[in-house]
Amino acid sequence: MHIMIDGNEVEINKGDENIIDVAARERIGIPAPCYNAGRKDGCCNACVIEIDGENKFACATKPQAGMNIIVNREDLIQLRKERIKEYQENKNQGCGCECSTNTGCC
Ligand code: FES
Repeated sequence: MHIMIDGNEVEINKGDENIIDVAARERIGIPAPCYNAGRKDGCCNACVIEIDGENKFACATKPQAGMNIIVNREDLIQLRKERIKEYQENKNQGCGCECSTNTGCC
């Protein structure tokens, strides 16, 4: 089974939990600050990618055969930068995620 990432065919395995795992295996850089910090609730929104024309989160989306994924496009890169900045600002104020998520991080 395959997916397309930035126009390149990438094989997916049954054990791939989500797209961020596939990207990491393929050495495709997608920032994932909350996921890397052990959170599984997708609270930082920094890993945004485009899948079949819709913005999704790489840490919270399972790969499915035939998906067409865009990672490295200027608008997505800019969006990720903005969200990382917001995440860092919130973290500096004592919370790594928006308090409105009610996930107990504040
Ligand atoms: S890494 Fe935070 S939402 Fe995906």
